[in-house]
Amino acid sequence: MKIGVFDSGKGGTTVLAVVKKMLPDEEYCYIGDSENCPYGEKSDAELMRIVRGHVENLRGWGAKIIVIACNTATTRCIEKLRAEYPDLKFVGTEPAIKLAAETEARKILVMATPGTIHSERTEHLMLENQKNGQEIDLLACPGLADVIEADDGIEEKLTELLSEVERDYEVVVLGCTHYSLIKDELRKIFPSAILVDGGEGVAKQVAKIISFC
Ligand code: DGL
Repeated sequence: MKIGVFDSGKGGTTVLAVVKKMLPDEEYCYIGDSENCPYGEKSDAELMRIVRGHVENLRGWGAKIIVIACNTATTRCIEKLRAEYPDLKFVGTEPAIKLAAETEARKILVMATPGTIHSERTEHLMLENQKNGQEIDLLACPGLADVIEADDGIEEKLTELLSEVERDYEVVVLGCTHYSLIKDELRKIFPSAILVDGGEGVAKQVAKIISFC
């Protein structure tokens, strides 16, 4: 089965790696759209225009399953894509709020792009999964995906975004696939936190779809 994967750049490679590890015998094609990075600060209409182009290309290359390896594009476009392309199966990447809440951690931080943080889907994930007495704080990180994509200015951006943020979070949700590329840096900032992302959930979902085909 051919699986198409896209993101606004190299963030989605973190998802692709997890999916490939679980499903090594499938065929993959990847679009890393660094030209349009960042997605996190684009309007819904512009983002839909961009991702539609990727879906058309991936479908043209024979992909039957499309992995949206981008939390921003998933939270804001997946429903519309499913309606527009009923012949394709879409698997989205979402902030791993469910996984974080299941750990019973007392304090959880969710880091993501402004687009993801302010989406209805993120609000819904919080309402669905937050346990009694659990604090879940949302942190929009404008510009962080850009510096990771450029591999320049990461330390300065992290200082700017996180200097006022408390350090005692037990779980930090990496709600943007780019952030999984800087786990080492984030571990130094939140030394006692477990870092979680959506990669594993995506891989399981792809495996489930393949098992039905
Ligand atoms: N890697 C993406 C995400 O997971 C998008 C980052 C961006 O382009 O703003 O949200």
